[in-house]
Amino acid sequence: MKHLLSMKDLDRDQVLQLLDTATAMHDVQHREVKKLPTLRGRTVVNLFFEDSTRTRSSFELAGKWLSADVINVSAKGSSVSKGESLRDTAMTVAAMGVDALVIRHHASGAPAQVAGWVGASVINAGDGTHEHPTQALLDAYTMRRRLGDLEGKHVAIVGDLTHSRVLRSNLICLSTLGARVTLVAPPTLMPAGISTWAKQDGFATSHDFDEVLPTLDAVMMLRVQKERMSGGYFPTPREYTVGYGLTRDRLAALPEHAVIAHPGPMNRGLEITADAADAARSMILDQVSAGVAVRMSVLYHTLASGEGSVR
Ligand code: NCD
Repeated sequence: MKHLLSMKDLDRDQVLQLLDTATAMHDVQHREVKKLPTLRGRTVVNLFFEDSTRTRSSFELAGKWLSADVINVSAKGSSVSKGESLRDTAMTVAAMGVDALVIRHHASGAPAQVAGWVGASVINAGDGTHEHPTQALLDAYTMRRRLGDLEGKHVAIVGDLTHSRVLRSNLICLSTLGARVTLVAPPTLMPAGISTWAKQDGFATSHDFDEVLPTLDAVMMLRVQKERMSGGYFPTPREYTVGYGLTRDRLAALPEHAVIAHPGPMNRGLEITADAADAARSMILDQVSAGVAVRMSVLYHTLASGEGSVR
């Protein structure tokens, strides 16, 4: 594949192939010498217009462990803070001869636009409220390791759905893999037009977390994205936690085999309590670890793949 812009670009076989490669890549993490020669001589630029801890550093490690040259350009400290446009910044970086641009941007669709301007591969590392495909892939990877095949498994995605690109990519990825998805949020944090979307794509929605809880194989908690909120979406943080937080009581109501996911960063005490975040069945740190392996796989399939690879 040339780019990874949306989970919609990938069919089931391609998703499984990316996850299989990630399994092979994951071994590197446990070696003393964390280096494969696969992308020697290739250059990857992380172009981050929005803050990030996990995604940026895992893309950086992924590139480095595959022996690519990796540089990071962030909006702060670059000419973006002097008013340079996205097009000029992307064209400037591309003109240096890079092979892949990993882009995070506050505008939905920005990576797709850049893909039209430059010859390099473009990987979407999160665009506005649109998509975050590598996050969905690493979530699927982690869930499959804990639960096995996701076909028929029931996954709830809970929280601030309106502002979440992780939700959009996960919905596509999980349905591609045959999971049953229920979205849980207060009415104010359900994306507009969700019922039409739900009918068309065959997922459920609910405002009642407690009713959904006992039927789950996995619960994915999403962060309340205060920085994207202009008004009041819920009366008080306390009320949000009472209605939609993964609290100690809810943890007890979750089936014993069910796992807990959160893409991070977490608002501990708001959407998830310490009991749940640090529980044995929480896979939150496994998600972070898988993030490097999955991004190695994505870089491999965009930059080094030959015969028989994903597109
Ligand atoms: C997410 C993001 O930035 O979209 N985080 C991440 O990539 N790990 C979710 C979030 O910001 O809440």
